[in-house]
Amino acid sequence: MNKKSSLYLALIAMIVIPSIASVISQRNNISNTLVFRTSQRIKGTSRFNKRNKGNKARGENKLYSQNAIISPFNSVVDPNHNYPIGLILYADGNQEVSCTASVINTANGNIGLTAAHCLFDDNSGEPYDQKFLSFSPGYDNGTNGPLGAISVVAIAVPYVDPENNDYALVRFEFDDPNGEYATLQEYTGALGWRFDIGDYEQTSVFGYPEDGGMEGCVRDGRHLCKWQYRISGITHAINNIDFGEGACGGPFITQYEAETNLGYVYAIYSDYIVASNVSFGDIWDEDNFFDLLLRVTP
Ligand SMILES: *[C@@H]1O[C@H](CO)[C@@H](O)[C@H](O)[C@H]1NC(C)=O
Ligand SMILES: *[C@@H]1O[C@H](CO)[C@@H](O)[C@H](O)[C@H]1NC(C)=O
Ligand SMILES: *[C@@H]1O[C@H](CO)[C@@H](O)[C@H](O)[C@H]1NC(C)=O
Repeated sequence: MNKKSSLYLALIAMIVIPSIASVISQRNNISNTLVFRTSQRIKGTSRFNKRNKGNKARGENKLYSQNAIISPFNSVVDPNHNYPIGLILYADGNQEVSCTASVINTANGNIGLTAAHCLFDDNSGEPYDQKFLSFSPGYDNGTNGPLGAISVVAIAVPYVDPENNDYALVRFEFDDPNGEYATLQEYTGALGWRFDIGDYEQTSVFGYPEDGGMEGCVRDGRHLCKWQYRISGITHAINNIDFGEGACGGPFITQYEAETNLGYVYAIYSDYIVASNVSFGDIWDEDNFFDLLLRVTP
């Protein structure tokens, strides 16, 4: 933990006492579950049409470098228990929508990955007010994870072609419950990430769907479900399954290890095309991704 970020967190803690206090009260009362109603959307035809075009363009234009490989990060607080994946919720009193997000390994330690469309109001097209967004890693069966619900302080989405770059980085306002200024990833562990994944990759997809075809799982938007097989021939498309509403933003993980509950994320679940019965993951290009990381990191 370097001094500069400790200082930064200390300053944050001093400046925003009211919101920290509310986070703490949620944290200490994990039975006081956030009420869940519905989940994401994205089943409009226009978007799918655009997507098909975009996929083609992207396939023909793979000129970006694909070099960075960042390893998973094991929880320091409890090395036997990583829980980097959780529910990200927007709840403003009138509407509630949820998606899936996960903590990824960064120097900052408080950065997560989700779908960009999960952070925007479908009707207005405007970004959601961050004060109504929260993330609960390890959320299960309607109950927040061990850290409760954590506020969001910054988001970054790609400037280019948002329809076909449907991923976002999010920074959390994490306040170490033990007062040691540990980062979120030191508690939850964090997924590694990479850009070099091709077709037919053996993949595990996780999410909190309230419908769709993930099997062996209660699909009520409150349970973390898992799908494991390999992606179809086309990079990051998976045939014959709808991962379901609420699973959006969920990580596509390669080299997933059940013992550590970690692996490398290389795309996030973006949307499902009804007509062809295909679920799509959006993969980032490395330049865009590093741009997001710079923008979201103080
Ligand atoms: C904890 O949650 C329960 C159930 O929602 C609620 O009745 C109780 O008042 C809460 N306690 C605190 C200290 O917030
Ligand atoms: C979910 O929690 C309820 C109690 O709130 C319990 O009865 C049920 O068995 C749990 N389901 C699963 C799948 O864990
Ligand atoms: C998609 O494929 C799965 C697996 O074959 C099947 O169970 C499901 O009914 C299909 N859904 C649609 C909408 O065709």
